[in-house]
Amino acid sequence: MIPRETVDQIIETAQIEEVVGEFVNLKKKGANLWGLCPFHNEKTPSFSVAPAKGIYKCFGCGEGGNSVNFIMAHEAMSYPEALRYLAKRYNIEVEEEEMTPEMEAAVSERESQYVVMAYAESYFVEQLWESEAGKAIGLSYFKERGFDEATIRKFGLGYSPESWEAFTKTALENGYKKEFLVKTGLSKDKNDRLYDGYRGRVIFPIHNLSGRPIGFGGRTLKTDKKVPKYINTPECEIYNKRKVLYGLYFAKKSIVAEDACMLVEGYTDVISMHQAGFENVVASSGTSLTLDQIRLISRYTQNITILYDGDTAGIKASFRGIDLILEQGLNVRVVMFPDGEDPDSFVRSHTREEASDFIASNAKDFIVFKTDLLYAETAGDPIKKAALVHDIVDTIALIPDEIKRSLYIRECSDLMQIPEKALLSELNKARRKLLKKRENKAPVEGPPPPAFDAGFPSGDAVPALPDGVSPDELPPDFFDPDRAVGEDPNDCSHQERDMVRLLLQYCHKTFKLEQPSEDPKGKPEKVEVMVIDFILGELEHDNIQLENPIYQRIVEELDELDKKHSDEEKEFNAEAAFLNHSDQEVCKACVDLLSSKYELHDWERKGIFVDPEDRKIKKAVMGSVYSYKAKKVGQMIATNERELKAAFTDEKEFSEIEKLLETKVQLNNIKKELAKPGGRVILR
Ligand code: GTP
Ligand code: MN
Repeated sequence: MIPRETVDQIIETAQIEEVVGEFVNLKKKGANLWGLCPFHNEKTPSFSVAPAKGIYKCFGCGEGGNSVNFIMAHEAMSYPEALRYLAKRYNIEVEEEEMTPEMEAAVSERESQYVVMAYAESYFVEQLWESEAGKAIGLSYFKERGFDEATIRKFGLGYSPESWEAFTKTALENGYKKEFLVKTGLSKDKNDRLYDGYRGRVIFPIHNLSGRPIGFGGRTLKTDKKVPKYINTPECEIYNKRKVLYGLYFAKKSIVAEDACMLVEGYTDVISMHQAGFENVVASSGTSLTLDQIRLISRYTQNITILYDGDTAGIKASFRGIDLILEQGLNVRVVMFPDGEDPDSFVRSHTREEASDFIASNAKDFIVFKTDLLYAETAGDPIKKAALVHDIVDTIALIPDEIKRSLYIRECSDLMQIPEKALLSELNKARRKLLKKRENKAPVEGPPPPAFDAGFPSGDAVPALPDGVSPDELPPDFFDPDRAVGEDPNDCSHQERDMVRLLLQYCHKTFKLEQPSEDPKGKPEKVEVMVIDFILGELEHDNIQLENPIYQRIVEELDELDKKHSDEEKEFNAEAAFLNHSDQEVCKACVDLLSSKYELHDWERKGIFVDPEDRKIKKAVMGSVYSYKAKKVGQMIATNERELKAAFTDEKEFSEIEKLLETKVQLNNIKKELAKPGGRVILR
């Protein structure tokens, strides 16, 4: 258990833009930062980070929260795991309170697998550096390959002894459960006897985006062709090879800085390139690139350079995979290494400058590369050439950006000596075919697009205002895509939401209210009231319980918090208190309330002026409370009518009907009062 003070300290220290910025490429726009949402697939940024509030929010898929929530969602961590992760990052010491047996039992399946993996990584590292065999066999192998000690340590390389059960036995003795050793492939189970999965191999740990080991590649040191060169972690809860890119944890910073990612084939290519000073390198470890992996890269950059071995037989086979990258709108370039060389060998036999020059001068645009390579084979064969033209045009058709498509058509028209016009008409056919195919496909992955795009940084879809209406005359929810249409007319969830939002946002702000003077003949007096006192006072007077239990809880806790602080004469920030609430449900509800969809500067830029809300708090607060009450009265009138009807049909006592009729009159009076501006109305 992490003590509450430490939790607060972590939340205070962890800057949201830093925490998110490690995983998402953010660009400043107005007061907020924007980027591509890591939680759903999108091409234009609707993911925003508000440093002032310490929260993030995606207007595409709805994900939102503070820095702890972000780590939880992004790294699939539990609340305490995420806190520990942030504490580690910001060098905050966490003195754990003791775990109860129940808490221990609650440690999840995933967490157990993570724990076993972390233990195994440290075991293999220790074997490599400390054991005689490790040093003589493993360490000297890595050194022979040109890895220096710092590199070997950085990537956590290790050694698994040439023994049937050295690892398994030690792991069991240390209390790691058989179940998890087997699930993670660290131990193999044969007729109830466990033996080591990677015996006699050097170990390449595979890390997730936060640097925890989630899998291993074990390379044999034998040259025997019958033993598999690599043994990899089997698919389990925490390892899915199609979703992992080897080296991404170490590369992500540099990928963002360079705005480019290099893709190589193997573990050793990544490590050698890294050591040579090229840190923006990842590998898809043996599988052909998957859509998940491409999306992973596209969070950090839109530019991929694929580095091919000189003797790669599979270049043509990889073309289909590259189409997938183009389809995601990424820019793909390729570099061919000289015959017999791979990135690993090349950077070892050249200086950094040479390698850098080589990559820069040999990087070719993928479509040009593909056209060049295949065009050479079509010499003198018109049928082959025609097939190639179709192939290339089909590839170009996948590119989402129209301008890019037309530039490619021009380039390929030169390369293949086909008139641009002919290629363009082919392109149009291919696009139509493609769009049709997509239409017929099952629904696309990811959440549906937002109902409409209000003020997103890329979208220009600002809703038109009705003629002669100025924006500040509109109801507060006019631009809200969630605004319910055609639902229960007395549904007040929206008003509740608005009221609680104002309460949190402007809690201790004040406004002037006219009150009748104590002296019946005196002039009305202006008194200053706080937003919290006004709203809570109104709710209390009418004895109103909010329908949304979370909002009701917020109101109650806020009241208590406020009382406590005013007793101690201390100030507190309501927004921060609830955004960082220890209950995740409360926290999420507040993020939803407080992430404003409409960036003011966007409006100003478009020449539509909106008076910022805090300059007219009074209007906002009173409007909100009264429209809420109006809804409530509407509800009460509806109930009253139902009861009256029932009373007539059931032929109830006249006195009962009379009471209901009295209520009806009262309610209608209140309704009339509420429609007038100003004036305080009590519902009961
Ligand atoms: P070295 O040969 O030591 O340079 O290692 P490498 O990592 O460069 O291997 P190679 O170029 O032969 O293969 C590229 C990648 O394919 C490796 O990093 C592995 O991820 C994967 N791979 C290669 N051989 C095997 C194998 O036998 N089994 C599995 N599962 N994956 C393999
Ligand atoms: Mn290699």
